[in-house]
Amino acid sequence: MKTLVSPSLLSANFLDLRSEVEMINQSEADWLHMDIMDGVFVPNISFGFPVLEAVAKVCKKPLDVHFMIAHPEEYIELTAKTGAMMMNVHYEACTHLHRTIQQIHAAGMKAGVTLNPSTPVCVLEDIICDVDMVLLMSVNPGFGGQKFIENTIKKVERLRKLIKESHSNALIEVDGGVQAETAPRLAKAGVNVLVSGSYVFKSTDPISTIHALKELKQPED
Ligand code: DX5
Ligand code: ZN
Repeated sequence: MKTLVSPSLLSANFLDLRSEVEMINQSEADWLHMDIMDGVFVPNISFGFPVLEAVAKVCKKPLDVHFMIAHPEEYIELTAKTGAMMMNVHYEACTHLHRTIQQIHAAGMKAGVTLNPSTPVCVLEDIICDVDMVLLMSVNPGFGGQKFIENTIKKVERLRKLIKESHSNALIEVDGGVQAETAPRLAKAGVNVLVSGSYVFKSTDPISTIHALKELKQPED
């Protein structure tokens, strides 16, 4: 199976978002990853619903929205209205994660649960069959262009084991520091979806960079 690629808009040129989204439309990207930050859950503020709605109108790829905010459950309806395909919420931000996952599904979206680098995979044991995707952060969330945290490879292996043993259909997505050196190792470890921000958008030829990521194959089993 080919790896899915979800370029992260956080590293795009915000003065020319339309061209950036059109580039994504023409590329082999499977999804577009959009990072929403509130300056509370993470020490940075990115963009919010006005930008998400505007991008949703011109983007032909499904939107993979990553909420780095406190109380993401308060924004489920608003997110569904934009037509977003996937709503990723942080495990660390959700007191009633099971309810939030059910509400995301009821609103017609796929539900992803995100883990910070310090949160172990084992906390997902009782929710793994209810989610469509697990997003493993391979940097501390909040900023693009950070160094990949090496322990993520071990987490991918542990998560793959948990998914298999639980007969879950959850996809594994990794976000942070995904570039030429780390992407092949992540694909080999069994990552289904690669998020990549600065490596794609700051490259001289983003379409070719996305193509190179698409060429990565996952293990057979
Ligand atoms: C970081 C965001 C990422 C970010 C990744 O908190 O969740 O999606 O854009 O950027 P790179 O790929 O540059 O590490
Ligand atoms: Zn992200």
